[in-house]
Amino acid sequence: MDSDTFPTLVAKRFEGKVAVITGGASGIGASTAKLFARHGAKVVIADIQDDLGSLICKENQDIEFIHCDVSQENDVKNLVDTTMAKYGRLDIMFSNAGIAGIGFTGFEIGTCDINDFKKVIDVNLFGSFLCAKYAARVMIPAKKGSIIFTSSAASVINGETSHAYATSKHAIVGLTKNLCVELGQHGIRVNCISPFAVASPMMTGAFGVDQAKGEEIVHEAANLKGVHLKAEDVADAAVYLGSDESRYISGLNLVVDGGYSTTTPALKMALIAHFSAQ
Ligand SMILES: NC(=O)c1ccc[n+]([C@@H]2O[C@H](COP(=O)([O-])OP(=O)(O)OC[C@H]3O[C@@H](n4cnc5c(N)ncnc54)[C@H](O)[C@@H]3O)[C@@H](O)[C@H]2O)c1
Repeated sequence: MDSDTFPTLVAKRFEGKVAVITGGASGIGASTAKLFARHGAKVVIADIQDDLGSLICKENQDIEFIHCDVSQENDVKNLVDTTMAKYGRLDIMFSNAGIAGIGFTGFEIGTCDINDFKKVIDVNLFGSFLCAKYAARVMIPAKKGSIIFTSSAASVINGETSHAYATSKHAIVGLTKNLCVELGQHGIRVNCISPFAVASPMMTGAFGVDQAKGEEIVHEAANLKGVHLKAEDVADAAVYLGSDESRYISGLNLVVDGGYSTTTPALKMALIAHFSAQ
């Protein structure tokens, strides 16, 4: 939607709110940062890609960048402390930073590299844990807040990503549900989003294709036809989970996959291959 017409057509959901978005320099995080800002939020993006992060801030005065490696506890503490020092509040923590790891495609347990496995867990899982820890510390006294993680369709359908990636994303769902129980008594909601494949730099890098080809391949495999899953679709889900429209939703794994994980085309494809060979 055109950014000039956006505010008149859609109510701003985040006026006066402050959000932190990790992995906000690229892909899903960058799209979400821009959408949150359009909804009136002050957004702090946290990433290790300083140049990309700074560029987004130059183009949008409601977004600022803080260098943060989410696998480093001091970096995450500094991220939340700096946000609180500047704005005095934290309404939404979108813990979204993630990596695919080197074994994302073509994985086999016998050749999995333990250091790569540890790195994926460090960023995807421990990073999420640290973001929740420091967000909860400031949200508990405020008696409100929304913590959102990015998991993956790999949390509900298996065998399509590396063991490290699948493990990290399943664990994020577990963390979501356990935190939902602990933090519910403090008025804090905890949810996660599980997208199907988005042709972001992570995905195109892992498959070695450009964005258009990536989207074409995903559409070919997708259950829902006639629409390409975009980073903006995941950003819309984050707006929903961050806003009061979902004020009674907690502990949810919101799967954004057009129904992909509810079915498998394998039998149909085998039947087609069998009968076309006759
Ligand atoms: N693209 C997909 O198909 C897809 C599908 C399901 C889930 N996801 C998840 O979505 C999230 C966002 O991925 P994306 O597709 O936008 O990819 P992306 O590569 O475009 O963005 C990921 C961002 O995370 C940052 N990052 C990586 N390691 C970091 C660290 N240690 N500390 C801070 N930031 C770090 C990167 O610099 C990058 O800016 C990830 O958690 C990913 O696992 C992606």
